[in-house]
Amino acid sequence: MKPQTSGQTLRFVRRGETVTLNHVAPDRTLLDVLREDLHLSATKEGCGEGDCGACTVVLGELVDGQLRHRAINSCIRMAHSVDGMAVYTAEDIAAPTGELHPAQEAMVQCHGSQCGFCTPGFVMSLFGMYQNTDKGQGITREQAQVDLSGNLCRCTGYRPILDAAQQMGDLPLPAGCAVDVGATVAALKALKKKPAADTPYLRPTTLSALLQARAARPKAQVVAGCTDVGLWVTKQHKRFEQVLDVTAARELQRVETYKHHIAIGAAVSLTDAFAALVKERPQLKTFSQRFAGLPVRNSGTLGGNVANGSPIGDSMPLLIALGASVVLMRWKKTAAGGEIAHRELRLEDLYTGYRTNVMRPDELVAWIKVPRPTQDEKLAVYKISKRFDDDISAICLAIRLEIAGGVVRSASIGAGGVAATPARARHTEAALLGQPWTEDTVMAAMDTLRGEFQPISDMRASAAYRHTVLGNLLRRFWLESQGQQAINLEQLNGLKSLEVTA
Ligand SMILES: Cc1cc2nc3c(=O)[nH]c(=O)nc-3n(C[C@H](O)[C@H](O)[C@H](O)COP(=O)(O)OP(=O)(O)OC[C@H]3O[C@@H](n4cnc5c(N)ncnc54)[C@H](O)[C@@H]3O)c2cc1C
Ligand code: FES
Ligand code: FES
Repeated sequence: MKPQTSGQTLRFVRRGETVTLNHVAPDRTLLDVLREDLHLSATKEGCGEGDCGACTVVLGELVDGQLRHRAINSCIRMAHSVDGMAVYTAEDIAAPTGELHPAQEAMVQCHGSQCGFCTPGFVMSLFGMYQNTDKGQGITREQAQVDLSGNLCRCTGYRPILDAAQQMGDLPLPAGCAVDVGATVAALKALKKKPAADTPYLRPTTLSALLQARAARPKAQVVAGCTDVGLWVTKQHKRFEQVLDVTAARELQRVETYKHHIAIGAAVSLTDAFAALVKERPQLKTFSQRFAGLPVRNSGTLGGNVANGSPIGDSMPLLIALGASVVLMRWKKTAAGGEIAHRELRLEDLYTGYRTNVMRPDELVAWIKVPRPTQDEKLAVYKISKRFDDDISAICLAIRLEIAGGVVRSASIGAGGVAATPARARHTEAALLGQPWTEDTVMAAMDTLRGEFQPISDMRASAAYRHTVLGNLLRRFWLESQGQQAINLEQLNGLKSLEVTA
């Protein structure tokens, strides 16, 4: 039996009404609260780890005064993180008369459900798409695939579900199904309250309050989107008496653009962080869509990926290749009371070993600074995983070269899945630097790259496979730089869509 932890009041808006729940423990998941406390059993638990999407719900949040809707996995999201938001489940979107929302009706008409276990999750992802488009109009096959990549179905097959995504925009929206934006915004504003300083689940709204809370509560579990930490609760049964959530600190919710770099706040979701990176470098679009599925990207943050420091995390190889740095912040006591202290280091210097880093107990990741592209930049990032969508990398290699006059003027290479930490391939960089950009140079550098790391064998790939692929990816980069596109994932994605529409 789980030991009890003390709880606090949780309030959110559902069907236009405020739901108030007392004594909710800081480490309870939103799914548990929906199913066990509110008996909303349409929202299903499949995997309990963010993979299957059966637990998908949509959150409505005020962002710059506007209502923003995002599909998320309720199984790994801490319940208190939705305090002050609107929550929509599969039980909330039909009209009171029973008439179905177009996201539901399209699934019926397209035969998108068999056993039905995955259906509430798919419906909520469709509802998220409906809200984020012009009432479901103009959804392409590609967009449907990307937005539904976090939902798995074991029996129906995906064609009818993708059909439903494209057809829901043609269906009428029954009265009573539409989200009443004005009323929801008013209800959310009415919920806003001054955050208390002594609750077990703390979500400070300013950076200084966040850093002071970190200093005062060194034992509190820091969370952002909880897409890593949520699994420690659901799979490892860890309990947290105190949780410190970084995502409400408004200074950290921004992406700022400067002349030479962009700065991504630690509270920015992966969806928004990748949008900012893709805006700078459009070639990263496919890679960004292969990071988990949409509901995970909507909750998770780039700051969480970097702080977690998994050797198979995807953003770090890319960020290392781009020359990114990380800004760590803490609250420093002074005679006048205190002030924010910060330091900045190259991302690769953050890590000291398997999931260990140089962060002090009172420090937090505050910003990730990413240099902007240069004219001579050639950049590619390759994710090798067993599945195309929503899978963890066996190997991830990001290569950034500046080539001018046929000579490699700068080289930075980040690698994942090859060592205990995300790693920088310094020897390979040295083998390329100042050399003519030729096949001979690349062949020599491939040997260096293979010799630079000693990858391990695990369930994702054998050491031998990783070793071979690592060098081959550099060769692929060379071939692509020569105009050869033997394997191009964007084309592959297009082919997948052609197959299903044929
Ligand atoms: C189904 C699924 C698929 C996934 N697919 C991928 C994938 O394709 N590629 C990949 O790289 N990852 C993947 N992940 C892992 C996860 O989504 C990412 O690591 C994500 O970026 C974590 O961010 P978060 O905000 O959810 O972090 P959290 O889970 O909230 O926190 C992760 C860690 O970082 C710490 N932390 C968070 N924010 C800060 C901060 N500001 N300062 C200091 N410490 C902090 C926490 O204490 C914790 O130790 C996947 C996860 C799931 C569940
Ligand atoms: S239950 Fe599978 S993603 Fe939540
Ligand atoms: S309908 Fe059975 S899992 Fe999708």
